[in-house]
Amino acid sequence: MTPPKILLLGKNGQVGWELQRSLAALGPLTALDRHSTDYCGNLADLDGIQDTVHRLRPDIIVNAAAHTAVDKAESEPELAHTLNALAPEVLAREAEKLGAWLVHYSTDYVFDGSGSQPWQEADATSPLSVYGKTKLDGEQRIQAACRKHLIFRTSWVYAARGGNFAKTMLRLAKERDRLTVINDQFGAPTGAELLADVTAHALRSATPDLAGMYHLAASGCTTWHGYAQFVLAQALQAGVTLKAGPDAVAAVPATDFPTIAQRPYNSRLDTHKLQAAFGLTLPDWQQGVARMLTETLG
Ligand SMILES: NC(=O)c1ccc[n+]([C@@H]2O[C@H](COP(=O)([O-])OP(=O)(O)OC[C@H]3O[C@@H](n4cnc5c(N)ncnc54)[C@H](OP(=O)(O)O)[C@@H]3O)[C@@H](O)[C@H]2O)c1
Repeated sequence: MTPPKILLLGKNGQVGWELQRSLAALGPLTALDRHSTDYCGNLADLDGIQDTVHRLRPDIIVNAAAHTAVDKAESEPELAHTLNALAPEVLAREAEKLGAWLVHYSTDYVFDGSGSQPWQEADATSPLSVYGKTKLDGEQRIQAACRKHLIFRTSWVYAARGGNFAKTMLRLAKERDRLTVINDQFGAPTGAELLADVTAHALRSATPDLAGMYHLAASGCTTWHGYAQFVLAQALQAGVTLKAGPDAVAAVPATDFPTIAQRPYNSRLDTHKLQAAFGLTLPDWQQGVARMLTETLG
C-alpha cells in the first residue's frame, strides 16, 4: 500500500509541533507554517492555501493552525473568522474534491460552560466569545463541505515546548510565598503529545463511516487551582525548592481575574464516543502533566 501524502498546517503551534513527530511515521509529510515559502501555509491567504492543496494533492490534510488568542479575537473578529472559519472551509472543499481526509481541532468554547456534566458531541452549542463563535462556524463549514472529516474538540491544551500554565506556576512559586488561582472552572489539562498521538492512531484506523466530530481530552477533571497544587507537589517531590508549596495556593473565583473574553466554567468533555470508535484509552490528566514536568524539571 502506498503511504498517504500528508499536509500539515500550523506546524509550530503546540499541537502542530507534536504532529510533526506523530504524523511522520504515517507517510511523506509536508509541514507548513504561515512563513513557509515553497508553499503557502498562511491561513489568512485563502487563495494561497487553496493553491497549496492543488499543487500537493495530499491524501490527508491536518489543520493545527488557528486564531487561538482568545482575548485578542474580541477586537479582531474578522481575522478570527477568516482563520477559524473561512480557511477551514477552503481546506474542506479541497479535501472533498480530492477524496482526502481533513483533520481539524476545535474547542469546548463552542459551549456556554453551564452545568457540571461533561459535554457530549451532540449537546447544544452556545459560544460565549468571538473565538468560540468562529471555531463553531469552522466546524459547521467543514461538516457541510467535506464528508471525510475528523474534528477533535479539545480543551486546556499544554505542551512541553514554550510557555505553559505549569511553568508559570513553578516560576511564581519560587518568587512568592502565596499564589491565588481560580477554583471554579473545571476541565482536564490535555497534552499536545496526546492530541498528536491520538490523531495518528485515528488516521491509521479511519474508515469513512468513522468520519465525524469527537471530543478528545485527557481523562479526569480538575480546576486551575487543583492543577497548580498538583504541579507544585510534583516539583517538591523532585527536590525543587519553592517559597510557596501546594498549601500556599489560595483558591479564588474566576471573577477575581476578569478577562476581555468570557470563558466557560465547565470545560469537561465526554470522550466515550472517541474511545469506543477508535478502541483507545485516554490516560488521566495527571500522567501527561507529570511527564511534562519531569522533562521540564530534569
Ligand atoms: N490551546 C488550547 O488550550 C486549545 C483548547 C481547545 C482547542 N484548541 C485548538 O487546538 C488547535 C491547536 O491549538 P494550539 O494549542 O496548538 O495553538 P497554538 O499553539 O496557538 O498554535 C496555533 C498555530 O496557528 C498559527 N497561526 C496563527 N495565525 C496563522 C495564520 N494566519 N496562518 C497560519 N498559521 C497561523 C500560529 O502561528 P504563530 O505562532 O506564527 O502565530 C500557531 O503556530 C487549534 O485549532 C485550537 O483552536 C486549543
